Amino acid sequence: MAEINSDINNAKALLDADNLIGFPTETVYGLAGNGLKAEVVSKIFEVKNRPHFDPLILHSHSLEAISEYVKEIPETAKILANTFWPGPLTILLERNDKIPDLTCSGLDRVAFRIPKHTQALGLLKILNYPLAAPSANPFGYISPTNSQHVQQQLGDKIPFILEGEISEVGIESTIVGFENGKTIIYRLGGLEVDAIKKLIGKVQTLPHSSSKPDAPGMLKSHYAPRKNITLGNIEELIEKNSKSKLGVLSFSKFYNEVEMSLVLSESKNMHEAAKNLFSHLRKLDESNVDLIITEKVPSEGLGKAINDRLQRAAVKE
Ligand code: TXA
Ligand code: MG
Repeated sequence: MAEINSDINNAKALLDADNLIGFPTETVYGLAGNGLKAEVVSKIFEVKNRPHFDPLILHSHSLEAISEYVKEIPETAKILANTFWPGPLTILLERNDKIPDLTCSGLDRVAFRIPKHTQALGLLKILNYPLAAPSANPFGYISPTNSQHVQQQLGDKIPFILEGEISEVGIESTIVGFENGKTIIYRLGGLEVDAIKKLIGKVQTLPHSSSKPDAPGMLKSHYAPRKNITLGNIEELIEKNSKSKLGVLSFSKFYNEVEMSLVLSESKNMHEAAKNLFSHLRKLDESNVDLIITEKVPSEGLGKAINDRLQRAAVKE
């Protein structure tokens, strides 16, 4: 099992010696290593059982530090960075040759993010390289939002998990990039698209592609629990599956009649709903229910990103 504590110097020593660690952020917990070393990055893919075509996100503490690893920072990127960093936004930038191919799965762009999380930033500031960190879950499984989740899933494969505040945002970062002067959203996430639009005007949201994804976080059955999960009208689904032991994940209403009923946000607050999403799914997945029933949340604010996760959790391929 991994050691868990909040000692950033211990974390640094392990990372400097090319180890991987569990890394807390405000979106989800990451599996982190030196993003400038191909042999370290290779371990990340191995531990996560992640296909090599799925590029990693690099984490840094400042735009100035990031500028060392990219060819240029477009004006729009600067505006976004100055407004939303630190925070749940990842920006794709043209990389230079300091970034190994493997980190970016051979693509021309590299993904960067400055997390808004005390322990994460404290650690990044004392390192002299960016941290590559995908979510710390086995590929395709529910993302972790606290250190115990990481321990359960990857604790036997890494020496250390940096303890930190639980992930306040609860879903992964929103990913943006630029193509022919246009701003494109590649993944819906913890920063609302409306906030981005308000700042820079029109943006384009890419439709999902599961065959050859540009952003493999877009794979259809990502975020899936091991149990079957059905998305639809909860009352109808309860009636239809009355012979099964049911677990319900609802937006705001509690269901007395089922084995386990978890509510994303009683007060219908989207931020609270996002924060609870993965930990609730995990609880249901670990419970003794036979089937998980869930519903879409209203498609406003973070609702779109939540529905995106729910939809893909419900797909079994
Ligand atoms: O909130 C987050 O972003 C979390 C925390 C730990 O920071 N990280 C995270 O990483 O969600 P991960 O590996 O689960 O998602 C990384 C996704 C890839 O699946 C891909 O969609 C996109 O980021 N990505 C990374 N680099 C890219 C690139 N060069 N071009 C296109 N998409 C890229
Ligand atoms: Mg992930």
